[in-house]
Amino acid sequence: MGKTVFEISETNRLDEIVQPLLAWYDENARVLPWREDTDPYHVWVSEIMLQQTRVETVIPYYTRFIRHFPNIQSLAEAEEERLLKLWEGLGYYRRARNLQKAAQTIMAKYGGRFPEAYNDILSLPGIGQYTAGAIASICFEQPVAAVDGNVLRVTARLTGCSADVSAPEVKKKIAGLLGEIYPAGRSGDFTQSLMELGAVVCLPNGLPKCVVCPVAFACRANQTNTQTALPVKAKKAPRKKEKKTVFLLCCEGMIAIRQREANALLGGLWEFPNTAGHLTPAEAKNTLKAWGVSAAAVAEGLRRKHIFTHVEWEMASYVVDCENMPPEFLWVTKEMLAEDRPLPSAFRPFLSMV
Ligand code: ADE
Repeated sequence: MGKTVFEISETNRLDEIVQPLLAWYDENARVLPWREDTDPYHVWVSEIMLQQTRVETVIPYYTRFIRHFPNIQSLAEAEEERLLKLWEGLGYYRRARNLQKAAQTIMAKYGGRFPEAYNDILSLPGIGQYTAGAIASICFEQPVAAVDGNVLRVTARLTGCSADVSAPEVKKKIAGLLGEIYPAGRSGDFTQSLMELGAVVCLPNGLPKCVVCPVAFACRANQTNTQTALPVKAKKAPRKKEKKTVFLLCCEGMIAIRQREANALLGGLWEFPNTAGHLTPAEAKNTLKAWGVSAAAVAEGLRRKHIFTHVEWEMASYVVDCENMPPEFLWVTKEMLAEDRPLPSAFRPFLSMV
């Protein structure tokens, strides 16, 4: 490669931020349940949940998860459906499955003790550089940065980096720059102070709160008034749109559900029967006939949109009063569904119709 990704200017030495940022963090860190100790199991579960999900959403999930699975062994031995039920609504279910796989690896390979070496942590299922850096620095005081979107934004603004932060070489450079300034004995706090600054001060979408920023004095973006232009990110491909028709099949207080294909999006979770496209009432009746459902009444129901990372579902629905319960579906009460079967958020709104 040999090309310089971006330069740190003479007047913006990154090491100047360390002490003011730590002092600010000591005073201002939010009290969060996963900050009560540095048990790697706690930090690991929280960091996985916090990927793609906001702190306020994660808190109750995290607390419940740790109550049900208080240690690595209980997670390794959990029944998958119970694990997915506890994850229901958080999305990105592969994260939950990988957590369990990694817990099983830790039991088998490390006698149940979370490994301390960065490369061992990194080799666990579902753990990438960000999570490995977070665990290594927060739990084991190693000087390794954990570079997520927040930390990329903070560092790009501090250094005036106008390169595309979604490029792996830029991320690597930022991780390297930060790694050089990690303070001995306070690695974990430094990792969390960078995250915290990104979460509550150096905000995305709109103006960051530079007037209360403890490191504004060393910030290139602040000096050149380029906060809103940074970080630079390559445009993502637009999401694919898929139309679906969802059927709420009801019979004698029971609702039909079925399990999704293992390899599909939301694989292995449960869903209401559905088909591709928006069906007219006549088409819907044909579909019911093909499923062997004899319908006493068919009514059009809610329309809902659900956004995933790469695809958007535009869902129409029908509520069907059925006279029989074809065995190709599992027929459950609302209570059984709530207790036992993980139902992704995309399907949840339709439940209000029955
Ligand atoms: N986002 C990612 N990791 C976090 C942490 N440890 N605390 C708060 N927000 C976070």
